[in-house]
Amino acid sequence: MQLVVKDLNTFYGAIHALQNISLSIAEGEIVALLGRNGMGKSTTLKSIMGIIKPRSGSIQFNGNELAGLPPHKIAQAGIGYVPEDRQVFGNLTIEENLMMGQMGIKNKNAAGPKWTLDRIYEHFPFMVKKHGLKARFISGGEQQMLSIARALMGNPSLLLIDEPSEGLSPIIVNEVRDILAEINKEGVSVLLVEHNYKVAVYLAKRIYLMGKAHIGYENSVGHLEAHPEIRSQFLEV
Ligand SMILES: Nc1ncnc2c1ncn2[C@@H]1O[C@H](COP(=O)(O)OP(=O)(O)OP(=O)(O)O)[C@@H](O)[C@H]1O
Ligand SMILES: [Mg+2]
Repeated sequence: MQLVVKDLNTFYGAIHALQNISLSIAEGEIVALLGRNGMGKSTTLKSIMGIIKPRSGSIQFNGNELAGLPPHKIAQAGIGYVPEDRQVFGNLTIEENLMMGQMGIKNKNAAGPKWTLDRIYEHFPFMVKKHGLKARFISGGEQQMLSIARALMGNPSLLLIDEPSEGLSPIIVNEVRDILAEINKEGVSVLLVEHNYKVAVYLAKRIYLMGKAHIGYENSVGHLEAHPEIRSQFLEV
């Protein structure tokens, strides 16, 4: 296993937001983490990334313990993060945003070839013409692509992606979905948080479902598809 999270506990003040979360991702895998609003999906990604410090538990990545490390150290270890709200810098150009993705990250253990601007532009062709445009002038879908591309510039071997489909039209959702499949083919594993069930089961082979603050179910997509009652227990249907 590339990532093994074991018994992670995270608090917001007195609120016990993650209760003994355990999950794992093998190299090259896409795994989806699904659940209703407020269950703790984003908190799980933020805890793995070190943005919120977990109180206890272990986060083993390629055999190294990451729990308690600051986000830049976790990025250096080879984990990229695409936040829920995308967080592109509106006053910077597309290219400047991409370069921000490399700042402070010297990841020598990246899987596969390194990501360069040229390689990013091959995968995200809309950026070629627009590379000098400030990010506030591009569409929501393009900003989502930029947020993903910026994370790739840090040469992660695992990407944590929080709701990439949110607020996008169906055609753009499919474009983002296809780009994630493409990136995965290039050797990047993905932990995907999604509200769009179709996108999640299209991309992932294994699924974790969260109940309040805990993982309530773990199995293959095939198993979940065969058990609609589990789906309605944990998700909006
Ligand atoms: N900064 C914070 N301070 C206090 N409580 C928080 C904070 N962020 C999240 N929470 C609480 O922690 C719980 C989990 O939130 P989280 O954002 O991880 O849920 P989520 O599964 O990502 O939900 P959504 O699908 O709406 O994005 C919720 O009850 C939320 O209200
Ligand atoms: Mg969330």
